[in-house]
Amino acid sequence: MNAPGGSLLVAENLRKAYGPTMALDGAAFSIHPGEVVAVMGPSGSGKSTLLHCLAGIVTPDSGSITYDGRELATMNDAQRSQLRRSEFGFVFQFGQLVPELTCVENVALPLRLNGTPRKQAERTALGWMERLEVDDLAKKRPGEVSGGQGQRVAVARSLVTSPRVVFADEPTGALDSLNGERVMELLTEAARSASTAVVLVTHEARVAAYSDREIVVRDGKSRDMERVV
Ligand SMILES: Nc1ncnc2c1ncn2[C@@H]1O[C@H](COP(=O)(O)OP(=O)(O)OP(=O)(O)O)[C@@H](O)[C@H]1O
Ligand SMILES: [Mg+2]
Repeated sequence: MNAPGGSLLVAENLRKAYGPTMALDGAAFSIHPGEVVAVMGPSGSGKSTLLHCLAGIVTPDSGSITYDGRELATMNDAQRSQLRRSEFGFVFQFGQLVPELTCVENVALPLRLNGTPRKQAERTALGWMERLEVDDLAKKRPGEVSGGQGQRVAVARSLVTSPRVVFADEPTGALDSLNGERVMELLTEAARSASTAVVLVTHEARVAAYSDREIVVRDGKSRDMERVV
């Protein structure tokens, strides 16, 4: 069951301090199923902290986060990690692929961790790699592919469990603009076709343009941004 208003993930009045630093100071957020929301704002404004709180990786000092009608704070660590494994996908700035595994093994990894047999996991992984146009790299290791290719492998991995939300923190931050745009096109296309919501943290207006809606974080506070088209 979704939260009132049809939102899948809702956060209100989040506060998180690191010592004297207020990383979040009353931030709010919401996303609908299948929606792509860009989180923008200057360096140090609290974007990554917000994403980590929403994904249940960091616990806020106060405020509420509700996923699919369930308050994250009422879940224990095992329940939260189960939620991350089964319902969420992640893409970070530097792929963070496991260097010892081949690309297809990397993409299959979230399924393997959920107990899917290897052959089946790799078949599903290859399907996503085809959609991200990196299936020809299946047998290569991450060290043998380019930055843009590696990010597309990471995007395939984030989608392989058919999650309901993908959290992407500066997914194109290490890429040139052409590769960045290709990664964004493929990520948003794949997410939309699977009704996966995407929380997209980015500095770049060009990247945010792939979203349905933008919010700006400044000094740990968030607000909706009117899109100027
Ligand atoms: N683990 C931590 N320990 C101490 N301070 C932290 C920690 N994580 C974040 N901060 C501080 O909280 C504030 C917000 O950081 P955050 O990483 O959320 O910013 P950001 O908007 O993602 O920045 P960037 O665009 O540079 O990635 C910053 O002042 C940062 O130094
Ligand atoms: Mg950050």
